Amino acid sequence: MKLMHVDASAKRERSNSRALSRYFLERLRAEQMDLQVDYLDVSVETPPHVDEAFAIATYTPPRERTPAMKARLAASDALCERLLAADALVFAMPMYNWSMPSAFKAFVDCITRAGLTYVNADDGSIVGQLARQKVLFITSRGADLRPGSPYASMDALTPALKAAFGFLGVAAPTFVDAQPLQFADQETRGEALERARYELSAVAANWAKSACVASVPQADANADTEYATLCQE
Ligand SMILES: Cc1cc2nc3c(=O)[nH]c(=O)nc-3n(C[C@H](O)[C@H](O)[C@H](O)COP(=O)(O)O)c2cc1C
Repeated sequence: MKLMHVDASAKRERSNSRALSRYFLERLRAEQMDLQVDYLDVSVETPPHVDEAFAIATYTPPRERTPAMKARLAASDALCERLLAADALVFAMPMYNWSMPSAFKAFVDCITRAGLTYVNADDGSIVGQLARQKVLFITSRGADLRPGSPYASMDALTPALKAAFGFLGVAAPTFVDAQPLQFADQETRGEALERARYELSAVAANWAKSACVASVPQADANADTEYATLCQE
């Protein structure tokens, strides 16, 4: 499986979201998944923010683009290709001020491209091109924003991610949200991390199972073959 792994925390060794995304990849490997990982740290390699050149070039039809416009879009083109080539996308990030880190927003702005990650169909509809990818968002939050908590209504991160990637064809992303972390006592923080690791293990098992089922040859798909046995283990 080709997996694109994106981290976005400003923190490094002390980052919880990075530790959790590493844990998830370890779990996938423990499930015997053969991974080809394309790694991007957007806190280090932050895509350039939208500027005037980008804003004009991105909505200019490809055959009308000048060499300068093509040059301005080149890095974005390349990033879109990386996403489209992946079978699975793992995005890990902290919540900053109720939404996503600005480096990850720059990434979203860079990969939302007409003719690449979404297509304007002849009937006027938008067809997102990331529909075949499995997508997992791992988020870390200082506060507890789960339903019922006083901060639940402040979660502008989950809807923003769902909207941005839904537009690109991601219909049913998985979310594992580690919370509360920074603004909780040590015991509560430990429980939140344990809960997140438990959920990530379940997602990894699920991905491994569906990869296994997808690899079963069509003729054998419904037969009681050794593939079926393998998939259950
Ligand atoms: C600049 C900044 C803004 C933050 N804003 C929020 C916030 O709005 N809500 C929240 O629950 N936690 C907030 N936090 C806490 C982080 O989401 C939390 O510490 C998280 O675990 C950080 O993830 P990391 O360890 O991967 O960096 C903020 C932290 C920082 C540094």
